Amino acid sequence: MAKSDLPVRDSFTSKFGVIAAAAGSAVGLGNIWRFPYVVGENGGGAFLLVYLLFIVAIGMPVMLSEFAIGRKAQRNAIGSFKKLAPRTPWYFVGVIGVAAAFLILAFYSTVAGWTLEYIVKALTDSFAGKGEAEISGLFETFHTGTFRPLFWQLIFMGVTLWIVMAGIKNGIEKYTKILMPLLVVMIIVICIRSLTLPGSVEGVGYLFRPNFSALTTEGILAALGQAFFSLSLGMGTLITYGSYVSKKENLGSTVTQVTIADTLIAMLAGIAIFPAVFAFGIDPESGPGLVFVTLPNIFQEMAGGYFFALIFFILLGIAALTSSISILEVVVAYLKEELNLTRKKAAVFAAIVITMMGVLCTLSFGAMEDVTIFKTTFFDLMDFTASNVLLPLGGLLIVLFIGWYLGSSRTREEVSNENTLRVRYFPAYIFLIKFVAPIAIAIVFLYGLGFLKL
Ligand code: PFF
Repeated sequence: MAKSDLPVRDSFTSKFGVIAAAAGSAVGLGNIWRFPYVVGENGGGAFLLVYLLFIVAIGMPVMLSEFAIGRKAQRNAIGSFKKLAPRTPWYFVGVIGVAAAFLILAFYSTVAGWTLEYIVKALTDSFAGKGEAEISGLFETFHTGTFRPLFWQLIFMGVTLWIVMAGIKNGIEKYTKILMPLLVVMIIVICIRSLTLPGSVEGVGYLFRPNFSALTTEGILAALGQAFFSLSLGMGTLITYGSYVSKKENLGSTVTQVTIADTLIAMLAGIAIFPAVFAFGIDPESGPGLVFVTLPNIFQEMAGGYFFALIFFILLGIAALTSSISILEVVVAYLKEELNLTRKKAAVFAAIVITMMGVLCTLSFGAMEDVTIFKTTFFDLMDFTASNVLLPLGGLLIVLFIGWYLGSSRTREEVSNENTLRVRYFPAYIFLIKFVAPIAIAIVFLYGLGFLKL
């Protein structure tokens, strides 16, 4: 077969398409739902500082590494390692990634389903005239139920499946380009409202004032886990997306733009939520329900709240969708390229298995609340195992792969587009990848899991 007869690999069509898709993956429930409550559970400002440090020193280098691996190999998360390191066990890094994809999408689709219920609640004006207790009650009744949360989870997985089945170009580029800027505008509007609530200063202080005594070793691990989760790192999502990026794109600048977008939106979500938490006297450590209780409170207080609530939950659902697509794509690309399934079969199979696991997560707030493994519910177990174990472990192996296996000259070739781009950051990047990131990840990881004690 002549080279020109080879099927063209599906790919992104523009620079903005790449940014929109990658930022779409990064910006999701992790920023708006998870970040504020993880900050809340770990003492606020001090956690934020550690988080930002991890984003710059570890997150950005890992992201560049994932993009470079995927684009160089032009394969899925497992196939990339098989191609770049043939006949070695390195492909196991991809296996960890695919496993993490199953676990993450299982619990992610639970919360994504909640956002759909909240779109309907907003549409039917369910928050109007209700006090804090009633709004908490609405969430309690809904998320501990059986039929409704499962129904919405199913719908969400169906939409995710439908988009992934259509391929790379389909939808993702087009929709994220419109929806991400809209999301930013909405969050800013809500921030402004939140900041003008009485007592909001306390909330902002909570987010930005570092109180190191509230920071535990588990908190530091959670900061690392959150950094990986939020940037979609450690499980080959960006290896997979990288494999669809044109050889002409500047990977370094893509990394910077995606990281800035992701971090900014997480901070804006924190600024939107904490002032309101304090203004309404809600416990900042109220966990996963934070966004579903505090935001409706703000909305029903603000002028035009009906409209804003509706738009906000629609955008939250869409932010979740652009992330869940990227997670499912990790599994689908693997099944398609390594096991030769058609895209459609791969997507259907993956979605069914993930949904079955997802049902356990959804029910772990209600009917299966008492079913625990290692004293945790399925939801918490999948979240913890994926975010705090598999992602950091995957990240560690990815940096070791680049730093100590692929090596700096082959990596440089890829990120500099065969030496046609100036990559002044490169020596710093390699230093972080070879020494700083692996040591930091290993220490935080072993500490957090209790294997290491000083
Ligand atoms: N980054 C997404 C978020 O913050 O919601 C979640 C996520 C997507 C994690 C893709 C991991 C991943 F591979």
